[in-house]
Amino acid sequence: MKEAELRQLLHDMTLEEKIGQLVQLPGYFQNEGAVTGPAGDMGLTQDDLRLAGSYLSIIGAEKIRKLQTEFMVRHPHHIPLLFMADIINGYRTVFPIPLAQGCTFDPELVKEGASIAAREAAAAGIHVTFSPMADLVRDARWGRVMESTGEDPYLNGQMAAAMVRGYQGDSLQEKGHIAACLKHFAGYGAPEGGRDYNNVELSPRTLREDYLPAYQAAVDAGCEVVMTSFNTLDRIPSAANEWLLKEVLRKEMGFSGMVISDWNALQELLAHGIAADQKEAAFIALRAGVDMDMTSPIYTRNLKQLVEEGKVPEHWIDESTWRVLTLKNKLGLFERPFKDADEEDEKALLLSDAHRQAARDCAEKSFVLLKNKEHMLPLQGEEAAFIGPYVDHQSLNGAWSIFADDQDTVTVKTALSRHPKTKNVLTAPGCPINDPDQPVMGFQQPVSPDSLDAEAALREAVSLAKEAKKVVLCLGEHRECTGEAASRGDITLPQCQLRLLDEVVKVNQNIIVVLFGGRPLDIRPLKEKAKTILMAWLPGTEGGNAVVRTLLGESNPSGKLSMCFPYCVGQLPIHYNHLNTGRPYHGDCHAGRFGSKYQDIPNEPLYPFGYGLSYTAFDYSPIRLSADSMTKQGSVTATVTVTNTGDQPGTETVQMYLRDLAASVARPVRMLKGFQKVTLNPGESREVSFTVTEDMLRFYDRSMQYVSEPGDFDVFIGPDSRTENTARFTLV
Ligand code: NOJ
Repeated sequence: MKEAELRQLLHDMTLEEKIGQLVQLPGYFQNEGAVTGPAGDMGLTQDDLRLAGSYLSIIGAEKIRKLQTEFMVRHPHHIPLLFMADIINGYRTVFPIPLAQGCTFDPELVKEGASIAAREAAAAGIHVTFSPMADLVRDARWGRVMESTGEDPYLNGQMAAAMVRGYQGDSLQEKGHIAACLKHFAGYGAPEGGRDYNNVELSPRTLREDYLPAYQAAVDAGCEVVMTSFNTLDRIPSAANEWLLKEVLRKEMGFSGMVISDWNALQELLAHGIAADQKEAAFIALRAGVDMDMTSPIYTRNLKQLVEEGKVPEHWIDESTWRVLTLKNKLGLFERPFKDADEEDEKALLLSDAHRQAARDCAEKSFVLLKNKEHMLPLQGEEAAFIGPYVDHQSLNGAWSIFADDQDTVTVKTALSRHPKTKNVLTAPGCPINDPDQPVMGFQQPVSPDSLDAEAALREAVSLAKEAKKVVLCLGEHRECTGEAASRGDITLPQCQLRLLDEVVKVNQNIIVVLFGGRPLDIRPLKEKAKTILMAWLPGTEGGNAVVRTLLGESNPSGKLSMCFPYCVGQLPIHYNHLNTGRPYHGDCHAGRFGSKYQDIPNEPLYPFGYGLSYTAFDYSPIRLSADSMTKQGSVTATVTVTNTGDQPGTETVQMYLRDLAASVARPVRMLKGFQKVTLNPGESREVSFTVTEDMLRFYDRSMQYVSEPGDFDVFIGPDSRTENTARFTLV
């Protein structure tokens, strides 16, 4: 539709129709879709439903075509609905969880995954996905770390932008593309104590320097929608924060699309104690800049009266309605209201071989080899017994894969039986996945407890372990222990799994752990007792195949941690790019009592950000600088030579970090500013160069100006965030 026609449409709409556009209804109003938040009837009338702008969580070409047809016939101006859903790490073909995708350090791969998710979802009738989540995360207690790409602002920015490009392509009207909704604006990844929905305290400088860059990258990549976060920031919930949505998001960051609240967040302004009643909540949220109200009755039931009483100027409603109509128009819905919804395409695309292959490839590249003593891996063939609750567990998709069917997932056991090299391998569950006295709640119902006879399972596992040369233990947290509303105060493995480890290690010391889960866990017992640990995260539909191929060396691990593994929960929150403190402690005894440290645990995480091994080994030369100083207009190039010193081909992610040694505000001990992947054959070397420019040296100074200051900088290039391969240059 031409802009003038769209303006005319807006002009012709009644107030009720315009307010209707600002409302997103839950799919369960049509007896459809997953319920992804607290459910209620919202007290709406049939008329309210007749005018809605959007539905959430309804999927399937046939259903959506039917609903759209019926809806448009009844709507006074025949305005099509927007269908939105949480397509997070895939639709039916599920990719690894986003935290794992972060470990690939491969934005192109992540973009490809998002474009496959978009293609499948578009065929199923979806117009907008609630992804990417660009929230920076530092606290593994928070269940939603699985939805983030990790603890680093730069990496998260690269990944968020890649996802937006993958979903949206060059044009939303192109077949197979859907609009991206960036979330959760802002700071949702820093809830106090790691407890979901909790208050967030961030200094303005930390917000801007660490938390906003990834959102900014997604905005710059052109994402069409932004979702507000549940949390308060400086004691103001985001859906009520005019400064955040108008000054920061729209003016400073240049976002011009539609803003949607999170689920029921406008109603929750009452619980926050920000609005005395629903009417005030409606006023506050619209004034703040929330265009669309997700699944609360606040806009539907209050905006009309507020306009009639003269409290809300009608042009506020018009502006928000305009944004909704503009998005529908960009998607081409006025001409093609079903967009790409097509049953034939669904059949051809969902879970196609090509999509499965891409999901498997992504999973393999996301695995992080944490430890590999005595070259336990790769396996040669059938020398290992496979034991543990994850051996034949189909819930490998991550908590947000609400539209996928676990039946489509390849378990480790299935993959073993299909692979010619492992088809006779012996397996046993060993123990239940969860402790029976720790019930786990899923999105809709409690996870049913394992019916396994725990003692018999343990006995079987131990006797199997006794006979085998090696044992692959498939352990981990249940996927429902991760994701939204799944915060944990204890991030160790279930007791039953730790007992299994203890009993098995008594009879066989050649333990390889394949670890599944949605967060970095406290794995001290695994590090102590297992010779090898492969972090497989929640790897998705092709998880089993990816694991088996990796164990057999058909794929060489190259993932690097996008979030560190803490030593234990007492370190949280933890991140590599911290400030130095006035009393930094480096583990030496000279610091005595008064260093910044714990008395009972180390400062260092168990495994740092950026860390990950390979079946081969890489050597780094010292850094060569093109000059030892640069001007603000100039640059310095830092080069290393990376050599594969092992006996097989492998891929390394070469990481470049910078540190500003003295500035007007304290600067982090290092910050990732670049990375490159190199694939090398045994004995092969490659020069890898990074060009440092002045924009990489900027920060928010005392007066909150984003500037660089002359002085000395250290550049670090190496395999992870702990590297000591360093050189110094001066900004003049
Ligand atoms: C609540 C979650 O916070 C958000 O991420 C999600 O997109 C919505 N529910 C819709 O399901």
